[in-house]
Amino acid sequence: MSFNIAIDGPAGAGKSTIARRAARELGFIYVDTGAMYRAIALGLLRRGTEVEAEQELMDALAGSEVSIGYEGEEQQVFLNGENVSGLIRTEEVSAMASASAAKPQVRAKLTDLQRDLARREDVLMDGRDIGTMILPHAQLKIYLTASVATRASRRYKELQARGQGCTLEEIIKDIEERDYRDMHRETAPLCQAEDAVLVDSSDMTIEEVVERIVTLTRERM
Ligand code: CDP
Repeated sequence: MSFNIAIDGPAGAGKSTIARRAARELGFIYVDTGAMYRAIALGLLRRGTEVEAEQELMDALAGSEVSIGYEGEEQQVFLNGENVSGLIRTEEVSAMASASAAKPQVRAKLTDLQRDLARREDVLMDGRDIGTMILPHAQLKIYLTASVATRASRRYKELQARGQGCTLEEIIKDIEERDYRDMHRETAPLCQAEDAVLVDSSDMTIEEVVERIVTLTRERM
């Protein structure tokens, strides 16, 4: 049987960096489910889809096939066969991903893909509803969080490094809005699974968090 690790938590808690490194150390496959939501969001933006218009959304989803592949250890996400990995990290796509991920039709589209991957391989999967909805029987669940201030300043540095200009205030506002939307939506809201280990990374280094996850995994394998 495959060993599954679920990591959930709010935007900017460092999930993807930590998940990628922990997966490498453990020899697991890292599955970034946020990238799947982002790929769908990119498709919706390109089509100019009005997310609140039910039929329009259904039509757009029917024409949006998402799949993933790997280049070395790096997950690549494909939208209708096109590798869109380099196009999904903008603030515009982030906002659309969060808005469209609230729609049950969007979530249903990705559920099977995520569960299939976890059934076949030892995966470390990160997202918002992995421990609660997608992999309720994961052998290890982590709820990774950090204060808004810490998360905002991390995201700010990340965007600066990529040459994308925006202010810290804008990022704080964006994070607070996304937290609210992710935690209060009706379908699969972000929350800590009862059996998840809470890790607050505000005062921890990346290495410390990775080490914690690796240790917990080895204890349970
Ligand atoms: O990297 P960051 O934490 O900012 O976001 P992400 O993990 O790439 O996810 C982008 C958006 O997709 C989030 O704001 C969530 O609303 C949504 N998402 C979700 O609803 N469920 C998941 N399993 C993963 C992402």
